[in-house]
Amino acid sequence: MTETYGIHDLSFATSHYVLTHQVLADETGVEVGKYHRGIGQDAMSIAAPDEDIVTMAAAAARPIIDRHGPDDIRTVLLATETSIDQSKSAGVYVSSLLGLPAATRAVELKQACYSGTAALQFALALVHLDPSQRVLVITTDIAKYELGSAGEATQGAAAVAMLVGADPALLRIERPSGLYTADIMDFWRPNYRTAALVDGQASITAYLQAVEGAWKDYTERGGRDVREFTAFCYHQPFTKMAHKGHRHLATCTGLEGSDEELRAAVVPTTHYNRVVGNSYTASMYLGLASLLDHSADLTDAPIAFFSYGSGCVAEFFGGTVVPGYRNHLRTSAHTATLQRRRPIDFARYRELHDRELPRDGGDHEIPRETAAPYRLAGLSHHRRIYESN
Ligand code: HMG
Repeated sequence: MTETYGIHDLSFATSHYVLTHQVLADETGVEVGKYHRGIGQDAMSIAAPDEDIVTMAAAAARPIIDRHGPDDIRTVLLATETSIDQSKSAGVYVSSLLGLPAATRAVELKQACYSGTAALQFALALVHLDPSQRVLVITTDIAKYELGSAGEATQGAAAVAMLVGADPALLRIERPSGLYTADIMDFWRPNYRTAALVDGQASITAYLQAVEGAWKDYTERGGRDVREFTAFCYHQPFTKMAHKGHRHLATCTGLEGSDEELRAAVVPTTHYNRVVGNSYTASMYLGLASLLDHSADLTDAPIAFFSYGSGCVAEFFGGTVVPGYRNHLRTSAHTATLQRRRPIDFARYRELHDRELPRDGGDHEIPRETAAPYRLAGLSHHRRIYESN
């Protein structure tokens, strides 16, 4: 029997707080329709002071370790662009919080929102070399833009953890992949800044060019006909972007369909992102969670993926949903995760936005706020101290 490889389990976590776009619109004077219909966003997750990419990553991965145990995992690949250290991988902190064995490697990957897909592809290569092993891939990010900027409405926070292995229970990942890289400055964050810099309209154009470029490589390498895919899961900096991407793909490929038909192939991937906002590396995989959790039956359905990371690198690939996948979903846990978030008002949001961790190397306790399974308890001599809640 031919060995298949892909995503065996998937779980996500998000932050303790949520800001609705209605609250944002009321304060900024922007007509709320621009957010709800114009960019397709209703709310965005906002991190509490005792949350960061490590606490969200560990919270996302915990249910996977509880279900499958740690023993087959020898590699943790953590993708983020909200890195907390120039040297130490956040994956090491996460491995420690999860109690993974010492005989494990943990590495952090970066290329804007794309690096989660790089992590997935590297994981597939590893399990192909040794199908007895599994790789824990974690995508985790907090998206932050300047107050008052156009990007402010496209913030968010989430982590998606995926167990990658042979004979997967959820999704078989197919070959080939279509790749695209272009050296452009559409969005970037120099090491000395906490908020990203972005040329919004240029980033939209760059995203659409990347759809075209990655698709071209995908077809030249013998990929599926575009009409074979049941659903299209795009990187979602805001959910309207996925629809723009899909319309562009339809134009480039001659994919026919009414506006409604084109929308229907994308909408099931957008339910979580609409209320979480941009979660950078996690965004497309949150789209996959939404698709699996919200579709009647996708057994054997081919799904298209378009992963984009500014700067830019993109990848187009396919996957097939595995029979019996519904028995492995975490739909009610995902719904509960979103419902647990506490709504905040505009004043509290601004306060959280402006807050930065002390940089003096002293001892600082961080008061308990999040109800998540893990929290950042304090800082000591430039070290982050984590604890279970
Ligand atoms: P903006 O420039 O203020 O918005 O910010 P706009 O004027 O372009 O309006 C947005 C849409 O709302 C338009 O629709 C308007 O017509 C509509 P479109 O023409 O695009 O279809 N609109 C309304 N609709 C209904 N009722 C109304 C109304 N008013 C206007 N009353 C922008 C938008 C996305 C540029 C901004 O939020 C931004 O800069 N965001 C950050 C950058 C971004 O998300 N770029 C996406 C592509 S790059 C990417 O995906 C990578 C990224 O994730 C980073 C990474 O890779 O690490 C960002």
